[in-house]
Amino acid sequence: MDFSMDNVTIFNHPLIQHKISILRDKRTGTNEFRALIEEIAMLMGFEALRDLPLQEVEVETPIETCMTPMIAGKKMAVVPILRAGLGMVNGILALVPSAKVGHIGLYRDEVTHEPHEYYCKLPSPIEQRTIVVTDPMLATGGSAVAAVDFIKQHGGRNIKFMAIIAAPEGLKRLQEAHPDIQIYIGHLDRELNENAYICPGLGDAGDRIFGTK
Ligand code: PRP
Ligand code: URA
Repeated sequence: MDFSMDNVTIFNHPLIQHKISILRDKRTGTNEFRALIEEIAMLMGFEALRDLPLQEVEVETPIETCMTPMIAGKKMAVVPILRAGLGMVNGILALVPSAKVGHIGLYRDEVTHEPHEYYCKLPSPIEQRTIVVTDPMLATGGSAVAAVDFIKQHGGRNIKFMAIIAAPEGLKRLQEAHPDIQIYIGHLDRELNENAYICPGLGDAGDRIFGTK
């Protein structure tokens, strides 16, 4: 069973761990990397969305009419942090095809490692939606904290943050800044290096997903 503490779930499912190990391998090419990011997001999403509210609706089966549960209320929003978070979106949409998709554009300054925002568009009414923020990497936590700050400023309340690999430093920073959100991590790695890259990590997630350097 997955290990969880307070508002954090760290996945130890063998399928997720196996796929993350292939992601880490520097020989894994763009096609396979992209497919794995999507698959892992779907596996994590299956667990992260277990508390979606249900409502009983009437359905006519070939046999009789019955009351049966369906997802209730306003639709979900998936909000990837650009660029790399985009790679996880289709994995979540495979589970909830009707979800709306917002975007938050952030890049890390190469020297200070602080995030800079360049784009934000969220589906309305954001305050009524379950919001799943996606980013494969939670390193210093600067991007995640800024993205959640931004969503809250726009009225978002019910927020889940999903990362495939996290550094302890980033997880702590996100938890401290936003103790009210649920956090889902595929694997908690050892530490950050002097360039704020996660060790052992998988390198630059955006470059590996999009084939840039
Ligand atoms: C990467 C990654 C996260 C961020 C994590 O994005 O996808 O968004 O760094 O680092 P942090 O926790 O220290 O903020 P990057 O800024 O490289 O942009 P990209 O996705 O456009 O490549
Ligand atoms: N962003 C990445 O893509 N990788 C890291 O290790 C840290 C930040």
